[in-house]
Amino acid sequence: MNKNYITLGEFIINNQSDFKYSSGELSRLINSIRLAAKTVNHEINKAGLVDILGAAGDTNVQGEDQQKLDVYANDVFKSALINREIVCGITSEEEDDFITIEGKYNAHDNKYVVLIDPLDGSSNIDVNESVGTIFSIYRRTTPPGMPVKKEDFLQKGNEQVAAGYIVYGTSTMLVYTTGNGVNGFTLNPAIGSFYLSHPNMKFPENGNIFSLNQGNYAHFPQGVKDYIKYCQEEKDDRPYAYRYIGSMVSDFHRNMIKGGIYIYPTSSNAPNGKLRLLYECNPIAFLTEQAGGKASDGFKRIMDIQPSELHERAPIFCGSTKMVEKAEFFMQKNKG
Ligand code: AHG
Ligand code: MN
Ligand code: MN
Repeated sequence: MNKNYITLGEFIINNQSDFKYSSGELSRLINSIRLAAKTVNHEINKAGLVDILGAAGDTNVQGEDQQKLDVYANDVFKSALINREIVCGITSEEEDDFITIEGKYNAHDNKYVVLIDPLDGSSNIDVNESVGTIFSIYRRTTPPGMPVKKEDFLQKGNEQVAAGYIVYGTSTMLVYTTGNGVNGFTLNPAIGSFYLSHPNMKFPENGNIFSLNQGNYAHFPQGVKDYIKYCQEEKDDRPYAYRYIGSMVSDFHRNMIKGGIYIYPTSSNAPNGKLRLLYECNPIAFLTEQAGGKASDGFKRIMDIQPSELHERAPIFCGSTKMVEKAEFFMQKNKG
């Protein structure tokens, strides 16, 4: 390995002072996410060999079947954050309500709340496709010293202080931002350390990959149908390549590196789309913008939406700026 690669641990320490509220607390928080990521990665890598594939036999609050690995990943990230008492609250796609951290070290004094999608694309796990974890971090808005309240979690995306994801793919990567660009770290499994392999990640301004579930075509708004037609036309640099894994993290990661657009729109049977604003759309939108791309709900900026519910859903169009602008053009044109 190139001896110049720095580790994630070194990177966190070196960049701590760039962070406007620098106190070491956020660094410790990202460190515990790093640890949980390694634990989940270890379990995913041997998933076919242990009894962890398949459904857990339960549904989450949103009525979706929980996979055993959804539950496992949720437990690992929760305990990494709870045991170290470095946050004051957590909310997760797999939990009915937010969790207040109480403990012997005055956890109520902590400043940060974490919002997670512990396992993204979990329907891919049984077939050895890549999956991910998404996290989003905010400063609480209620005063420290007392239990967190729901309003601490219901903040606009533009209030995020950090966000990122882990992609458990052909290699495992942790990609995150604290508002100073996006950096990607690859896990060396032999050593158990993440190394800075993708510094300052940027979306190409334009791209030639479009990603959405075309199986839902009949239910899509006309603007999305027209944009699909545009992507498929033989003109200029088109037709574009169509790529869809069904794990937002994986689709997003590829598009950020190669240039592309990821869309999960509204549809006649899902009027607010499918993806969760707090656990999926906002962190991905923050990363998109920090990587020079654009993230919108088809009409306006994702990070300007005021959430009103923990599990609220939103449509998302994110990726290379020119592609998102073109998709927005078709949405606007067909606005009814
Ligand atoms: P999750 O596994 O956390 O529920 O998220 C799955 C999401 C997203 O990752 C993916 O892009 C999308 O659902 C796939 O949905 P479709 O199967 O409807 O395409
Ligand atoms: Mn997800
Ligand atoms: Mn999930």
